[in-house]
Amino acid sequence: MEYRQLGDSDLRVSEISLGSWLTYGMGVEGDAAAACINHAFELGINFIDTANVYNRGGAETVLGEVLASRARDSYVLATKLFFPMTATDKGLSRKQIEKQLDDSLRRLRTDYVDLYQCHRYDPDTPLDETMDGLTRAVESGKVRYVGFSEWTPEQIQAALDIPGVVRFVSSQPQYSMLWRVIEPAVIPLCEANGIGQIVWSPLSQGVLTGKYQPGAPLPADSRARSDVMSGFMDTALAPPVLEAVARLHAVAADAGLSMAQLALAWVLRQQNVACAIVGATRPGQLDDNVGASGVHLSDATLQAIDTALEDVVVR
Ligand SMILES: NC(=O)c1ccc[n+]([C@@H]2O[C@H](COP(=O)([O-])OP(=O)(O)OC[C@H]3O[C@@H](n4cnc5c(N)ncnc54)[C@H](OP(=O)(O)O)[C@@H]3O)[C@@H](O)[C@H]2O)c1
Repeated sequence: MEYRQLGDSDLRVSEISLGSWLTYGMGVEGDAAAACINHAFELGINFIDTANVYNRGGAETVLGEVLASRARDSYVLATKLFFPMTATDKGLSRKQIEKQLDDSLRRLRTDYVDLYQCHRYDPDTPLDETMDGLTRAVESGKVRYVGFSEWTPEQIQAALDIPGVVRFVSSQPQYSMLWRVIEPAVIPLCEANGIGQIVWSPLSQGVLTGKYQPGAPLPADSRARSDVMSGFMDTALAPPVLEAVARLHAVAADAGLSMAQLALAWVLRQQNVACAIVGATRPGQLDDNVGASGVHLSDATLQAIDTALEDVVVR
């Protein structure tokens, strides 16, 4: 496993990292969740991403149980706030930052997180107040660094322009061969300001592994077949997308890579990307995925990917 510096922080994160959306404490319970998380560490994964809202605290609770036996400084832990935990507990006000952070720390069984992220921009709270709340969280020692997820360039710039407050070190965007929205503006802005990308759904929720064949039944034991995990997959499973992804099998074979490794190496070709945060329902998926760390894709492979996907890429 290779490691990269996260923006201007002193955090070094594994190129392949582990997330917990829809999986731990939700679609993947008990021993199955622990098996994935523990195997991640065996493979050199050192960065775990979660959020308070993932199954309303359920993911953080499972992670807290599984991580409790590990030395706290042996892994990098990130969580987030913004989405509603109750009808009134939501957003990025100073009060919510204090309250949600304490609740997350209790569930995660730790007294600090390495990275605290604004899960979305909060249009209902003045940005000055949010940045002051984040600054206080860092000063309290409960948070080492702060980040955002899915903010626009204008929102990022507005935060950078506020004097005397903590500076963001990370951006958590959706980014994959199929979803390239951050390339024209977010990446250059972040690169210029010491902010690294920690990428979500780099496998497009499993679609880029090639296991969803166009016109074929959804495979058993897949996210798309799961009652609790399939709710956000319509775009990724559109027939033209599956047909385009099927054209990547030959590209992966020529490069000597699995489909998942091709997709993850593609994301990691960007130096501003610190890591690809994957989900995993089985330990063996992580064996496959970590094979992407350190892989260099040739210009011919990159061109072949673009040719295969050209009709369906979202930019
Ligand atoms: N900031 C945000 O707004 C936001 C949004 C979404 C996610 N995230 C973060 O990003 C993380 C990753 O998101 P994601 O779970 O959508 O990522 P993903 O890596 O694109 O998809 C993960 C899913 O793909 C399947 N899979 C993974 N590796 C595979 C392999 N080698 N072969 C076959 N199937 C494989 C598994 O599902 P099945 O086995 O069930 O098919 C797995 O749960 C989340 O856990 C979360 O931490 C953040």
